Amino acid sequence: MAKDDRFIITGLGGAKTLRGELVIGGAKNEVLKVLAGSILFCDELTLTNVPEIEDVWRMIELLKGLGIKVRQLEKNKYHLETKGLNNFSLASEISKKLRASIVVTGPLLARLGKVVFPYPGGCVIGKRPIDLFLSGFEKMGATITENEEGFVIEASRGKLQGAEIFFKNQSVTATETFIMAGVLAEGQTVLKNCALEPEIVSLGEWLNECGAKITGLGTSTITIHGGDLLVGEGKTHETLADRIEAGSFLILGALTAADLLIKKCRPEHLDALIAYLSEAGVKIEIGFDWIKVINKGDEKFTALDVKTHEYPGFPTDLQAPFAIFLTQADGQSYIFETIFEGRLNYFEALGRMGAKVKVLDSHRAIIDGPTPLSGREIESPDLRAGLAYVLAAIIASDESVVHNVEYIDRGYEEIEKRLASLGLDIKRISGNCS
Ligand code: EPZ
Repeated sequence: MAKDDRFIITGLGGAKTLRGELVIGGAKNEVLKVLAGSILFCDELTLTNVPEIEDVWRMIELLKGLGIKVRQLEKNKYHLETKGLNNFSLASEISKKLRASIVVTGPLLARLGKVVFPYPGGCVIGKRPIDLFLSGFEKMGATITENEEGFVIEASRGKLQGAEIFFKNQSVTATETFIMAGVLAEGQTVLKNCALEPEIVSLGEWLNECGAKITGLGTSTITIHGGDLLVGEGKTHETLADRIEAGSFLILGALTAADLLIKKCRPEHLDALIAYLSEAGVKIEIGFDWIKVINKGDEKFTALDVKTHEYPGFPTDLQAPFAIFLTQADGQSYIFETIFEGRLNYFEALGRMGAKVKVLDSHRAIIDGPTPLSGREIESPDLRAGLAYVLAAIIASDESVVHNVEYIDRGYEEIEKRLASLGLDIKRISGNCS
């Protein structure tokens, strides 16, 4: 994959003819934190079901820069050796492009007593502040100095002190960062108003398997008893199935498939999306680790009001893909994006494709459907809107060109090969031969 790659997609013009199976990969938003958590280990660990995506490769580069040895044993399987950890400065050019690198600050500060990192890259979906991180570290006895590049944070006497921290916003990465900081802090850390995402539970259970003492996972109050470095010898963590990828493909199936089976997923992590799609009239069958969607082709879906919300509410990462579904629903739908203030920027291109959309403010929009979409040349502004554009291009008539595919490559492994296996005409044109 290269910079400026683009997809050429021949739309189905509203037909629901795709059919086949999609196997879900490991969750980007879990494995990035499990990788960061390797800093808490004295020896080694093995990870499987690791998605081969840009963000994982960037996190691996970041960890190598800290002195951690990372070896790919085979596709989707990695071994990490952490004895050589010897650097507390995050590589600026990598961490600026990877918002998730912020979670590395917790374990690094806890283990080495110091961390240096740049202002994290904001991205198009919103400001992405880090006030919860800075105030949390101060509560744990660290001092923060700011300079033109970013931050230097030092734990007093080289060791974080356990503390009680209340998050004024439920934050996924802040919850994960302070769970990991608490693992090596002196004494007990109590985190309140924690995020409840399943990726957090999976991370915490893995750390407990290797010697951490974390209780309250999956609830809004998490307690961590500080202790020694974790031991990963002989231990293997299988990355949790990616619920956002599974949800994206479920929406694809509802819009374009005669018969789509989604395998190796966790349906219980998609309650909100399944509830909304079922209410709109989509026929969904659910198994232990699979979801099947079937269309006869003449379905009429009803319009819905959808409000994004912290887990287990409707995930903000599925808001853009779901909006594509709502362009094909009968009536007026209303979207309220409560988490980020910049996550409706994809509507302009959707309007150019023929959708009847009206953005009311930075959090709310209206969609009138159903409207046929026509193929266009469109630029993905970010990862999840990029996937939404692929969905729009598939239901549209004629041909579409989706640019900035590198954003989509950040979160979806070999997406064009997998979609082509369902019968879709999709080609990747490399940016190198523009
Ligand atoms: C995680 O981001 C995910 N990223 C995001 O997925 C996801 O959209 C988001 O959680 C919400 O579910 C990863 O896990 C790597 P937050 P995160 O902190 O943790 C505010 C994707 O496409 N906030 O839960 O950065 C913030 O502004 C990505 O895979 C503060 O106020 O999101 C937002 O309004 C996009 N101060 C709210 O909290 C802080 O210090 C929730 O954001 C931090 C956050």
